[in-house]
This record gives sequence, structure tokens and C-alpha cells, in this order.
Amino acid sequence: MTGADEGMPSAHPGGSAQDVDWAVLRERAVAMLDRAYAPYSGFPVGVAGLVDDGRIVAGCNVENAAYGVGLCAECGMVSDLVAGGGGLLRAVACVGRHGIPLMPCGRCRQLLWEHGGPECLLATPQGVLPMREILPQAFGPQDLDADRRREDTR
Ligand code: THU
Repeated sequence: MTGADEGMPSAHPGGSAQDVDWAVLRERAVAMLDRAYAPYSGFPVGVAGLVDDGRIVAGCNVENAAYGVGLCAECGMVSDLVAGGGGLLRAVACVGRHGIPLMPCGRCRQLLWEHGGPECLLATPQGVLPMREILPQAFGPQDLDADRRREDTR
């Protein structure tokens, strides 16, 4: 079950930045750089995420001659997560060339919010931060639920 299924992504019980093996996550993200298909931008991106069941999921960017349909690395990681059985992301490391920490684009922050929720941790250039600080006042599944509830009481 994902956090989205419950309407509001759940908190991670007892989860903290210290519980996460960031070196392993970063290593997996860096390994994905070699898989990136980025002939147009020349800007490879790799990402890895720790799932609440202990699995590690990963992705790389996949560009396209039709520039606008290129896929960010996070898209691949989220597909890996869902295709592999789902779950809630606890921690994510996204890197550019040489393993430099990279901030996810706006769209991908939304993806991470959906599948990680507010307490999912992200390795940023300013240290480890929770998603609630990366995407404040986020739109999410709870907004759809609230809207449906309002409709039901009309
Ligand atoms: N890119 C990602 O893979 N993730 C992000 O969060 C930011 C941007 C990719 C898309 C494109 O292939 C390349 O980086 C340059 O924008």
C-alpha cells in the first residue's frame, strides 16, 4: 500500500536521517549515472531511494529526440518502486555528474511527495531535509479526498 492509498502519506515510524545508509544510497545513485540516456543535454542524472520494506529502487534520466517527452531519473525510480510491488519511499538521493547532490525538479518533487510523503528524507546540497521542507504546502491525495467529502455532503 502506498501513502496515497490512505489519503495522506503516513509518517515513518521512528525514521530518522541516522537510520539511513546514505553511502549505499548515494553509491546506487552514482551507479545509475552510467545508465543514463542523456545525449541531448549531456546531463546524466541518477537517483536511488530506500523503500519502507528495505528495498532500494533506482532510476536514471531517459531523454528523447522529442525533447519534451524526456523522462527524469525520478520517473524511472518511481516506476521501479511501483512495478516492484509499491511501498513508501523513506529516503532519496539524487545525483548529477561526479555524484554531486541534485535537487529534483518541481514535477519530480510532486512524484516524491506522492510516493514518499512529508517525512521522506532527501539528500540535498544543504544536507538531509524532509520532503515537507522541499515541497511546502504541497498538493496531494488529501486535497482530492477533501474535495470528494465536500461533494458528498452537498
Ligand atoms: N533531470 C532529472 O533527471 N531529474 C531532475 O529532477 C532534474 C532534471 C534531467 C532531465 C534532463 O534529462 C536533464 O536532467 C537536464 O535537464
